[in-house]
Formats: sequence, structure tokens, C-alpha cells
Amino acid sequence: MNLPLAAVLAFTLISLCVAQGKKIPLSQGKRSDWKPPGAVRRPWTASLQQPWPLPIRPRQQLFPKQPRPFEKPVQPDKPLQAPKEDYGVTSLARDVKLTNYKDKVYHCQVEIGTPGQKFNMAIHTGYPASWIPSVHCPPEYTLSSHYYRRYNNASSSTYRANGKEFTALYEDGEVEGYWSQDTLKVAGLKVRNQSFGEAVLEPNMFKDMNIDGVLGLRPRAAFEGEELTVMDNMVRQKLLPAPVFSLYLNRFDSEDRDSVLTLGGTNTDYYTGEFVVAPLTRPNRWQFKIDGVQIANHSGVFSKSGCHAELDSGTPLILGPIEEVNIVHLQLGGIPLQGWPRTFLFDCAKVDSLPDLEFIVSGQKLSISSKDYIIKEYKDGEVSCYSAVEGMFWRKDETPVWVLGTAFMRAYYTLFDVGNKRIGFAKAKH
Ligand SMILES: *[C@@H]1O[C@H](CO)[C@@H](O)[C@H](O)[C@H]1NC(C)=O
Ligand SMILES: *[C@@H]1O[C@H](CO)[C@@H](O)[C@H](O)[C@H]1NC(C)=O
Ligand SMILES: *[C@@H]1O[C@H](CO)[C@@H](O)[C@H](O)[C@H]1NC(C)=O
Repeated sequence: MNLPLAAVLAFTLISLCVAQGKKIPLSQGKRSDWKPPGAVRRPWTASLQQPWPLPIRPRQQLFPKQPRPFEKPVQPDKPLQAPKEDYGVTSLARDVKLTNYKDKVYHCQVEIGTPGQKFNMAIHTGYPASWIPSVHCPPEYTLSSHYYRRYNNASSSTYRANGKEFTALYEDGEVEGYWSQDTLKVAGLKVRNQSFGEAVLEPNMFKDMNIDGVLGLRPRAAFEGEELTVMDNMVRQKLLPAPVFSLYLNRFDSEDRDSVLTLGGTNTDYYTGEFVVAPLTRPNRWQFKIDGVQIANHSGVFSKSGCHAELDSGTPLILGPIEEVNIVHLQLGGIPLQGWPRTFLFDCAKVDSLPDLEFIVSGQKLSISSKDYIIKEYKDGEVSCYSAVEGMFWRKDETPVWVLGTAFMRAYYTLFDVGNKRIGFAKAKH
């Protein structure tokens, strides 16, 4: 089935117009039909041969009921310097082993409750809340996959009811439930009174990802409610030597070591060289300024005027403003996939010689090679090569940003400095 570009554009425009005038309904535990407008809209997932899963990046704020207030850019509270000097105490930081599920999602094992109930939780730097499936999820709303474990509050001695409604909207549906509190254990750290969503309704988009829930690692904005994030609690309960965490993400089909989330510091085993540091440009997102995106050894520089990028481990892709993404692929020689104009196809025989893609941050080039931005998909003995870089629609009231998912993060060891509101990049040691 090949949808002409015009139909795709028309659909998007219509849906944008319809969504513009609509109020977001207050869902009182009921399933609402409203879908977030714009953004990574992919209505044809089922019928087209799209090889790549939907990002688990939520398209909506955690509490969509209030408008997002104007957020002032954050000024760094001290001169920028290599974070290594501040937080080099790696002996006290904790490493959490991550499992890379086919380069689609990275998850770690977390225990919730006393005695602990184990869950595979996707690490998500684009989302503040953590959630897991509840034993109270009615059968008609469950995925009935046996590996989906469920939290049972009745068998935990440290459970505390909260009961406030929990909602998280994703591209392909919404997770609904209520907030609860319990002890959360990760890497031997015991976080008390941790709030998390107990999901009683989940979309089936998580079915092929081998995860039970999500561990939110984005700072929470004031309008997103009062529930403290896991990092908030770890810092308040003084479990970490420094209010930071960092990520090393391995490549699925290589001999790499395990992926690692380091809580409270950096781990020098996993990176080389100095950190390139950028202050956050929105206080509760891992968002920073980029001065340009370019292809190595090409003269064209995009976004010269400056743009912003967000680090989001919740998507395997690199998402950018559509026009810029199209120019990138024009220069690289990618061909739009028929019926799927935002996915670009490459000749597999040539992908190894494709030039690097460079993001300019704090005056330095952060470059990723085709090994990172080309996805190889094997099917029936044949291999197809797709670009991980895709165009993304934005709502009228949103400023387009680049979303750097795990295709980018595999190339760079990333430091998320909660205390100083900044982010650091060092070359990952594969
Ligand atoms: C567990 O949660 C259910 C549903 O919210 C509630 O009715 C029940 O009282 C809770 N169990 C305990 C032991 O608190
Ligand atoms: C957890 O909550 C209980 C009840 O509100 C309180 O007594 C206790 O001090 C809290 N523990 C921590 C570590 O915050
Ligand atoms: C790009 O230019 C640099 C130096 O100018 C050179 O070393 C490198 O091989 C070139 N890369 C490609 C892909 O042509």
C-alpha cells in the first residue's frame, strides 16, 4: 500500500486543524478518544512495512490539563567546566546494568515493594514519572503477555495508597491508572516512599519491547504535580554522592560491554576525553542549544541561527524538523520510503562510506557515524538499511527541536547533571 505524499500531508493538516480547536478532556479514569495533535503521527503502522517501533516518547505532558507555563532559560549557576572535576567520585556512584533490547529500548531491573517485586523498566530521559502495570488491571485491558509482571500492593508491607489519577499519553494510546507509593530498589539503593503510576490500562505498543514499565529520568516541572521523581528522592534521601546520573549505551549487534546507568557520578571505564558541556535551556527537560547540524565535509550548515535538542532515551530515533531532515537526506542520498515519506532508505552496499552527521554543541562538533544513524533490518535473509533520522511534526505552539534518541546516545557517554542543570557529552568507549 503506497500512500501518496499529498494524502499524508492532507491527513496531517486536517488532524492538526481539528486538534487545534479541541480542549483536552478531563478523563476521570475513563478511556478518552482524544489524541495529541501533531508530532510523530504514524497512523499506518499496522498496514505498512515500517520496520522500526514507535518511540515510547510520550507526546503529551504528564498532566495535560494545565497549559504549560512560560519557562525561562536556565542560567548556569557557576562557570561551565568539565564535570569530571566536580563529580569524579566514581567509587561511591552506583552502576546499574542495562539490557539493550534490539537497540529498541534499554531497561534495567527494579524492585518495588517489600519483599521486592521485580520489573523490567525502560530508562526514559524524556519523561519524569515512573510506572508499572498493576495487578488491578482488568483482563480486557491487559496485554496478557506472560512476561508482563504486575505490581500487587496487597503483598507489600511498605505500600502506601495515594490514589490520585495517573495518565501518560503516548503516540499509540494512553497508560492510565493511579499513583501509589512504595519502596523502590535499584542497584542496591533503597528509595523510600517512591511515587509511581500503577497502570490499570495500557496500550499494546509496549508488547514487543520486553518491558513492564518505565523509569522516568527527566526532571519534573511544577505543573506536572507533586510526585517526586526517582532522582528527586535519591537526592533528598542522600543516597547519591552527587545529584547526577550518566549513561553508556551499547550497540546490540556488537561485542560491546553491557550498557550502564551510573547513579551519582560518571564511570571513566566507559568514555574517553573531556566532556563537552551545555547548560539546559529548559529547566525540566534535558534540552540544550545546538548551533548547527551538518554533514561532515559538506559546506551546508543547517539551523545556523540556533536550535535546541533534547536527549531522549525513550526513542531509538533521531527526530528533527522536517525541512532540515529532508535536506540532510538529500545530501546523503537517501530515498524516501514509498508511502512513508519520513523514513529514508539507503543502499546497504554504500552505508559504510556515508559521512558523519555532526551536531554543534558549545562550539564543538559531536559527530555520529553511519554505524549509529543507519538501522539495519534483517528479514528473510535480506537486509534493508533505514535512516534513524526522521522528520517530526510539531504543534503550532511548539518550537521544533531535535530529539536525540538512543541512535545518537550510543556514540556519546552522556552526563545528566541535575544539580547544575547541564548536560555533558564524552566519546563513548566501545
Ligand atoms: C490495594 O489497592 C486497591 C485498589 O486501589 C485497594 O482497594 C486496596 O485496599 C489496596 N490494598 C491494601 C492492602 O492497601
Ligand atoms: C515515608 O513516609 C512516611 C509517612 O509519611 C514518613 O513517616 C517517613 O519518614 C517517610 N520516609 C522517608 C524516607 O521519606
Ligand atoms: C573529511 O575531511 C577530513 C579532513 O579534511 C578527512 O580526513 C576525511 O577523510 C574526510 N571524510 C570524508 C568522509 O570524506
